[in-house]
Amino acid sequence: MEVSLDSKALLNAAVGASDRAYAPYSKFKVGAAVLAKSGKIYTGCNVENASYGLTVCAERVAVFKAISEGDKELEALALSAEGGAYPCGACRQVLQEFNPNLRIFLGDSEGQLVAESSLKDLLPKPFGPECLENK
Ligand code: THU
Repeated sequence: MEVSLDSKALLNAAVGASDRAYAPYSKFKVGAAVLAKSGKIYTGCNVENASYGLTVCAERVAVFKAISEGDKELEALALSAEGGAYPCGACRQVLQEFNPNLRIFLGDSEGQLVAESSLKDLLPKPFGPECLENK
């Protein structure tokens, strides 16, 4: 069953999540909202750490929340960041595990749509679960 996609609502959820970003080091607040095929929306923000390398991006927080709640079929992702920002490479790889065709909406910090994309475009020739089949 197709979930009807309200990209504006998804972007607004991402803006709300960015308010909760813990980004005292970069001061770059990111909010993510993942729409699952169940219709539920899972949000995440970036969570930085004094040990910089332990920082987790907003996208991964949102995806891990969805997966840990048992929602593995993901439909779309909205991001909110100043000026609009594309997901980093590590997040593209994590997203690809659950939907290589994920739709992606990039918004600024007010939730205005800056660009629309898909994971297929952002991560061509991916390494995915099928690469490990029959192992
Ligand atoms: N960040 C994200 O949350 N998502 C991305 O895709 C790119 C970067 C965060 C990590 C760090 O807290 C801050 O933005 C600056 O890199």
